[in-house]
Amino acid sequence: MAEQQVILSGMRPTGRLQLGNLLGALENWVRLQEDWRCFFCVVDWHALTTEYENPHDLVENTYQMVTDWLAAGLDPQKSVIFRQSDVLEHAELHLLLSMITPLSWLERCPTYKDQIEQLREKNLATYGFLGYPLLQAADILIYRAHAVPVGEDQAPHIEMTREVARRFNFLYKPVFPEPATILNQVKLLPGIDGRKMSKSYGNTIEMSDEPEEVRRKVRMMITDPGRIRKDDPGNPDVCTVYSFHGVFNSSESLRVADACRRGEVGCVQCKAELAEKLVRFLAPVYERRKRIAGDRDYLREILAEGAVRAKRTALETMEVVREAMHLKL
Ligand code: TRP
Ligand code: SF4
Repeated sequence: MAEQQVILSGMRPTGRLQLGNLLGALENWVRLQEDWRCFFCVVDWHALTTEYENPHDLVENTYQMVTDWLAAGLDPQKSVIFRQSDVLEHAELHLLLSMITPLSWLERCPTYKDQIEQLREKNLATYGFLGYPLLQAADILIYRAHAVPVGEDQAPHIEMTREVARRFNFLYKPVFPEPATILNQVKLLPGIDGRKMSKSYGNTIEMSDEPEEVRRKVRMMITDPGRIRKDDPGNPDVCTVYSFHGVFNSSESLRVADACRRGEVGCVQCKAELAEKLVRFLAPVYERRKRIAGDRDYLREILAEGAVRAKRTALETMEVVREAMHLKL
C-alpha cells in the first residue's frame, strides 16, 4: 500500500470557537481524518506573536479550544491532537529554516503589513511576528505534510511554505514534499446583528452555546428593518435570519423566502423555525461536549499522547534535516 498522505493544520488558541469555525474549518478536519493521517496542532507560540503582553489565558484557551475540537468530532484515536509548544523540534526547524529564508519573503507577505495596520494597539514590530509564516512553515514541513486545510487568508503562508521547501530541497537534498492547500469551504455567517461575526462586536454564536442561549440569540437577530407588521411583505435578502436559513435550513430556504416576500410568515415564527434547526444541528456537538464535561485530566491526557505521537514523526524528520545540513558528527 502506498504511504498514507499526511495532513497538518493548526489554530491559535483563542478560547471558545464560533459556529463559523465549525462550518469553515472543523467540519473539514473531521471529514479529512477518515482518510488521511492527520495532525492538528494548537499553535500556542503563534498566539504569543500577537499576545506576548497578555499571555495569561493561553492555557485556559487551549483547554477550551481542544474541547471544541473534540465536540466537533475530532477523534484522538484517528488524529494526532497536540500542542505546538510540546514539540520543541518545531522551534529547531524554524531556526534552521530561518538560515535559508530571504527576509524579503517575510516582508512581502500580505498578512504581515495588514496585521500591523489592523492591530495598531499592539507593537508587532517584533522578530517573532515577522517570522510568523516561517514558524507556520516549520509546523507543516516537520510532518512532511502533503496538504494543509486552511481558510483563504492563509493561502499565502502555504505558498511561502512551498517556496521554503523547494529552497531547502534544492540547497541540500529532497526532504520535504511541497504541501498543497486545501481551501475550507466558506459559508459566510454574519453575526446576530448582521455585521461580520466577531468577538469584538459581541455578536457571535458559539459552538458551546446551550440550546436556550441559541434560541435567545436567534430571537435577537436583526431582520428586514422595513418590516413593521408581521403581514408586511419582507425582503429576505437583507435579513440576518435568512442568511442562517440558507446554511442550516437550506432545503426549506426557498419556501421561507417566498413566505417572507408574501408576508405569510411573521419574523417570530421564522426565527423559531431557524432556532430549532440550529439546535438540532448542534445536538451531536452538545452530546460530545457533555461527555467531556470539562475533564482537564482527560484533555491533558489527549494532548500528552498527541505530543508523543507528533514528536515521533518530528524527530524522524529532524534526523534527516540535520544530516542534510551537515550537522551530524
Ligand atoms: N496561521 C494560522 C491561522 O492563523 C495558524 C497556523 C499556524 C497554521 N501553524 C499552522 C495553520 C500550520 C495551518 C498549518 O489560522
Ligand atoms: Fe427575515 Fe424571516 Fe422576518 Fe423574512 S420572515 S424578514 S426572512 S425573519
